[in-house]
Amino acid sequence: MKDTIAIILAAGLGTRMKSSLPKGLFRVAGLPLVCYPIKAALEAGVSHVTVVVGHQAELVKAEVTKYFPTAQIDFAMQEQQLGTAHATLCAAENAAPFKKALLMNGDLPLISANTIKALGEVYDQTGTTFALVTSRVADPGGFGRIERSPDGEVQQIVEKRDATQEQLAINEVNVGLYMAETASLYADLAKVGTSNQAAEFYFTDIVKMRTSKGEKVGAYVLGDASEAGQINNRAELSEVEAQILRSNAAMIMNLGVTIHLPETVYIETGCLVGSNSEIEPGVSIKAGTVIGSNCLISRGSVLTNARIGDGVTIKPYCVITDSEIKDFAIIGPFAHLRPQSVVGNHGHVGNFVEMKKSNLGEGSKVNHLSYIGDAQVGEKVNIGAGTITCNYDGINKNITVIESGAFIGSDTQLVAPVKVGKNSYVGAGTTVTEDVPDGALALSRVKQVNIENYAKKK
Ligand code: UD1
Ligand code: MG
Repeated sequence: MKDTIAIILAAGLGTRMKSSLPKGLFRVAGLPLVCYPIKAALEAGVSHVTVVVGHQAELVKAEVTKYFPTAQIDFAMQEQQLGTAHATLCAAENAAPFKKALLMNGDLPLISANTIKALGEVYDQTGTTFALVTSRVADPGGFGRIERSPDGEVQQIVEKRDATQEQLAINEVNVGLYMAETASLYADLAKVGTSNQAAEFYFTDIVKMRTSKGEKVGAYVLGDASEAGQINNRAELSEVEAQILRSNAAMIMNLGVTIHLPETVYIETGCLVGSNSEIEPGVSIKAGTVIGSNCLISRGSVLTNARIGDGVTIKPYCVITDSEIKDFAIIGPFAHLRPQSVVGNHGHVGNFVEMKKSNLGEGSKVNHLSYIGDAQVGEKVNIGAGTITCNYDGINKNITVIESGAFIGSDTQLVAPVKVGKNSYVGAGTTVTEDVPDGALALSRVKQVNIENYAKKK
């Protein structure tokens, strides 16, 4: 599809969503809606994508660019939302250098790259200059109806609002995905009018314009009708999202991963899990997360943009965000890893430990009730229960350095900026305010006094 441009229509107001957020930016299984057709078009091999934007254009542009930083994508502006034909016309300049255009409604997140390729084949085989995708559905709902001639050729698309009772009963519908020769498409689009119930410029009028000139319109009927699912309102959003989540889980299981009760596991689009890993019920694996092989992700954990190595055990109810856990580490239960935390190979982060913007070196352990923030911890360090890095002085965040082999006793405060040297010891209950030299023992607690018979005297 090197000579083909994909034009994605995403300028609509999304009135039926009842939100100020443009419809294309609604998150569907973690990915903005508008990104799905772009992804499918790129996977199908189109060389260039134009997204037609209008309502809150700058926001939509920024999101699309964020998700596809290297793809050939540009934008066309539709100032006023006058209908799908008008939106397509707004991309005329973008389309002009290309022989063919793939036109996609921006609210179709289930369309696969294979369907786009099949449409391309029908277009080529029919020897036509216009082809579309249709679907046979149980409930034609708000879709445009496909009217065929007695010999089975597509004649026209009738929008629901303009349909007669007889036409409403037709259960073959217009999916909103088309392929056309650019030059003749734009010549026809310029002639589309607004004489319909919605007084909009309907893209779908193109079909009748063609057939009434005796031109044939190619049609590919979806093999899997569920791909036609579009999102016009919140109920459709939840239905389509559930379908995507099921297919994400199925894709992960196909990679050789066990998912217990997959209907309770939430896996956003684009996440990956390596073979032989196991995911327990109630786990959320959110955008950007990649998990290696032979891992166990236990019940209730929420992983967002997390990179998890091989052989890692995440015990129940951990929250891990924008962080990296290296091979064979053990995390949780109830650990909270905030952004920019890195746990080295064989590291342990135990229950009720919070980490933020910190590195825990290979084989180091912080097993109980601690806060490790803005800290650089070396290898084979043992951090005792209840250790707190006092990283914030009210103005600045300060760094704590704990070098390899150090042993930090329980209930220690490390008042940053401070450095604990190699193989040194910090006694339990110490408040460390000055650097500890390599191999030293730091103690700051006062000597214990026992007052004999105190209870009796009192
Ligand atoms: C459209 C089709 C209908 C088809 C259905 C499939 C038309 C007239 N109707 O109806 O036949 O069955 O999709 O999903 O095309 N948009 C713009 N600018 C506009 C209007 C819309 O960019 O001025 C964009 C929307 O953001 C959306 C897409 O075009 O992504 C389709 O618009 P929508 O309002 O959802 O059309 P439907 O009523 O679903
Ligand atoms: Mg729609």
